[in-house]
Amino acid sequence: MSKPYVYITRKLSEHVMDTLEKHFSVEVWPYEDKPVDRETLLEKSKKADALLTMLTDQVDQELFDQAENLKVVANLAVGYDNIDLQYAKSRNVTITNTPDVLTDTTADLTFGLLLATARRMKEALQVIPNNEWTTWSPYMLAGADVHHKTIGIVGMGQIGEAVAKRASGFDMKILYHNRSRKKEAEEKMGATYVSFEELLQEADYVVCMTPLTEETKDLFNKEAFQKMKSSAIFINTSRGGVVDEQALEQALVNGEIEACGLDVFKNEPIDQSHPLIKLDQVTAFPHIGSSSVETREKMMELAADNITHVLNGKDPLTPVN
Ligand code: GLV
Ligand code: GLV
Repeated sequence: MSKPYVYITRKLSEHVMDTLEKHFSVEVWPYEDKPVDRETLLEKSKKADALLTMLTDQVDQELFDQAENLKVVANLAVGYDNIDLQYAKSRNVTITNTPDVLTDTTADLTFGLLLATARRMKEALQVIPNNEWTTWSPYMLAGADVHHKTIGIVGMGQIGEAVAKRASGFDMKILYHNRSRKKEAEEKMGATYVSFEELLQEADYVVCMTPLTEETKDLFNKEAFQKMKSSAIFINTSRGGVVDEQALEQALVNGEIEACGLDVFKNEPIDQSHPLIKLDQVTAFPHIGSSSVETREKMMELAADNITHVLNGKDPLTPVN
C-alpha cells in the first residue's frame, strides 16, 4: 500500500517536515514567504489525504469537491475563518487548529500593542532616526496611561483571559463581553461581565479578541465607534473582518476615538497606501500575534501531530468540527 499523501502549503521547520516524512509521502510548497497559488493548491488537493494549511489559504467548497481522498485539514492558526467548516463536515473532513500553544504569546503581543499605542511608541521610534530630538519637553509625545484604566475585552476565550491576566497586573479594571459568562475569569481576575454596549461606553481600551464568524463580521462599525469614549483606544489582534475599516478611519479622523492598534486587516497584506496607515494614531503590525520562534514551532508540531493522528485512525488532538 502506498503511503498517505500530505501536502503542506508553506515551508516549515525541518524537524516538523522530517517527522511527517517518516510516515507519509510529503510534498511542500517550497517558499516560506509566498503563499501557494490557487491552481497549485487545487491540483495538490486532488490526491491529498491531508493538507497542512495557512490562514492565507482558502479551503472552500471548490477545493473539497476535488479532494476526494481528503481526511484532514490542519490549519496552522487558532482561527479557521479561511475554511468552510459546514462543507467540510458534509464531506467528513476533520478540521484542526492550533489553540493553547499560542495563547500566552498572542496575549503578550496584544498587550504590547496596547502599550505601544497608548504611549505613542510608533511616533517615538521615529524621532531619533529623523534627527528631531531637540530637547526634553513636558508634553513631548505625551500619551495615555494604561495602569488603573478600564479595559474592555470583547471575546473572552483563552486569549481574552490571558489578556485579562496581564491587565490585572497593570491594576486595570476589567470588563468583558462574551456569548457566555466566564465565571472563572470573574473569580480569578475580577473581570465583570457587561453588555457589548456598556463595554463600548465604559472602556478606555476596547480590545477585540473575538473570532470572525457570520455574527461578528463588521461588529465594530460606525455605531460601535460612536458609542466609545472620545479618549478610547481600540486594539484588534483577532481578524480584520470583525472591523468596518472605513468606519474606523472616520472615527479616528473625526476624533470619535483617540487611537488604535491593529495587528490584523480585512484584506491582508496591506501596504502604506492603506488609508489607516497614513494616520499618526494608528499603530500597525503585520499579523504577528503568535509569532515567537518557540510558539510557531509548537504550532507546526501540533498541526503535524493532528495529521498523524487522523491518518493513523486516531482522534485528532485539537479538532474544531
Ligand atoms: C492567527 O491569527 C491565528 O489565528 O492563529
Ligand atoms: C523624566 O525622565 C523625569 O525624570 O521626570
